[in-house]
Amino acid sequence: MSSELCEMSLQQTQALIRLTDDTLQNICCKRFTGEELYVEALQKVLGGKGRRGPASIFIVFQEKDGTIRRGRLFHLKEGEVVERSEEISIDPLSNYAVSLAQTGAQTDVVASNWADGCESVEDYQANFHPGIKAAVGAPIRNFIIYRISGEAPGTIIAFNYHGRATNYDADVLRSLAVVIGSLVTLSDEVRETEKAFLYTIEALARACEAAEEGTGKHIQRVNRYAGALAANTGLPVDFVDAVSFSAQMHDVGKIKVPVSILLKEGALTREEMDVIMLHPVYGEKILGDSPRLQIARDIAIAHHENWDGSGYPYKLKGEAIPLTGRIVKIADVYDALRSKRSYKRPVSHAEAVRVFKEGDDRINPLAHFDPVLLATFFKIEHIFEKIYESLAGESG
Ligand SMILES: [Fe+2]
Ligand SMILES: [Fe+2]
Repeated sequence: MSSELCEMSLQQTQALIRLTDDTLQNICCKRFTGEELYVEALQKVLGGKGRRGPASIFIVFQEKDGTIRRGRLFHLKEGEVVERSEEISIDPLSNYAVSLAQTGAQTDVVASNWADGCESVEDYQANFHPGIKAAVGAPIRNFIIYRISGEAPGTIIAFNYHGRATNYDADVLRSLAVVIGSLVTLSDEVRETEKAFLYTIEALARACEAAEEGTGKHIQRVNRYAGALAANTGLPVDFVDAVSFSAQMHDVGKIKVPVSILLKEGALTREEMDVIMLHPVYGEKILGDSPRLQIARDIAIAHHENWDGSGYPYKLKGEAIPLTGRIVKIADVYDALRSKRSYKRPVSHAEAVRVFKEGDDRINPLAHFDPVLLATFFKIEHIFEKIYESLAGESG
């Protein structure tokens, strides 16, 4: 291998490693789809400045029933995708290169140059689908084709390398496709697991609410208020997402409180109050020690703590109370004010805002709430009102 080729190979390998790294980090955030990843990978690894790469790449995926293949052609220039074509459909039984290489070749990657089998570049054009020729926009002189196997079978065809398309180029394309293929499969699996996880959490939150009057609306509203409060306090997007998903689990501990106490009409005895006040500790236990549920656990344990240390169960004070718990406290208190309970009537939005300003016989705003979050609440109280109205109907 010449030193120039060595240098290029090193650069391409490094680009591939960076891509794998970035993708693995983003897999947890679910921020890409199969096609996006292919395009990003191809432009980073093949299209970089001074790199040896094709002028255009056609990525095509097979329909589930195998009848038709649809894809787009991307033009690469100095590390960027400069243009992408409309969708092109190809019948796999047609006589063009895509299908020939797919059915005839023994290996999964094939490099082809016009001079190897044709009299002229013009003759060579007869191998290609008219849609592809039009999208490439220049006479095709060479190509490398790679078949993607596995869950989402498809084909990548890289057109018009400078000079000849070589075995080295074919190897680069193959390594790239293998890595992308594994990442796509992995991300699909992560997405499935994530979906199952979210579903389980929602089911758990709903099951706990079901013991009380009303079912899901209270927890949905608390999720939304908490997200709005976090976002408008300027907290990072990932934090906002986590809070607005985890808030719904604030009362999971109530599942261990007897229904006869939860649903009791009229005043509770001291002993009954003591049992209810254990629900944050029960919630903490139920959510266990999974790192994935840490925010939910913080919320469950801290949403009845007060800023001045007069809350329960641990009488935490000020910033010792997890921020997520302080956020959900405001959300939960607002919703409780607006909702009908066995011991109280619901109040209007204006009345709830007045209680957040002046307090009442149970709530002392300056003593109970984080002052920064309270200020945010006053700035966005109209959003709370909208959330309540759009999801009104059930208490919590
Ligand atoms: Fe609670
Ligand atoms: Fe609640």
